[in-house]
Amino acid sequence: MSTEIYYFSGTGNSLVTARNIAEKMNGKLISIPSVMDQESLKTNAEVIGIVFPVYYATNDCGIPLIIGRFIRKLENIGSKYLFAVCTSGYMSGETIENLSKLIQSRGAKLAAGFTVTMSNKILTKEKQYKMFNN
Ligand SMILES: Cc1cc2nc3c(=O)[nH]c(=O)nc-3n(C[C@H](O)[C@H](O)[C@H](O)COP(=O)(O)O)c2cc1C
Repeated sequence: MSTEIYYFSGTGNSLVTARNIAEKMNGKLISIPSVMDQESLKTNAEVIGIVFPVYYATNDCGIPLIIGRFIRKLENIGSKYLFAVCTSGYMSGETIENLSKLIQSRGAKLAAGFTVTMSNKILTKEKQYKMFNN
């Protein structure tokens, strides 16, 4: 079964995650920015993985803008097995649910979604404590 793992990564966490998944699944690793110049994206892969960071700090859905644009470019994904992995620093909220809705709006289904919580590069433990106890 042919597999493609698409990823976007700002600081490397999602890249490492995507690379590991691609290795284990014997899939092709593809950078999302490298395909964004195409008007629409068609693929013959039967399995598509999407790996990206949680970005609630920049919007109210947690999904980086480029991921939203990427999903809207994907064509004929109704029959594919789609899964997603988001990497987060402290809280993924409803990122996967929101992605699932976006994928549904494209006539497809998110078969599985996962969050990997990484060590947090942005917030100290004290700041996290304040955030969750306010
Ligand atoms: C602009 C921005 C917004 C972020 N927003 C969140 C967030 O809402 N929740 C969270 O848990 N982590 C947040 N993070 C942390 C990243 O999701 C986390 O560090 C992720 O693993 C980074 O992946 P990357 O190294 O592939 O870019 C944010 C990071 C950035 C740069």
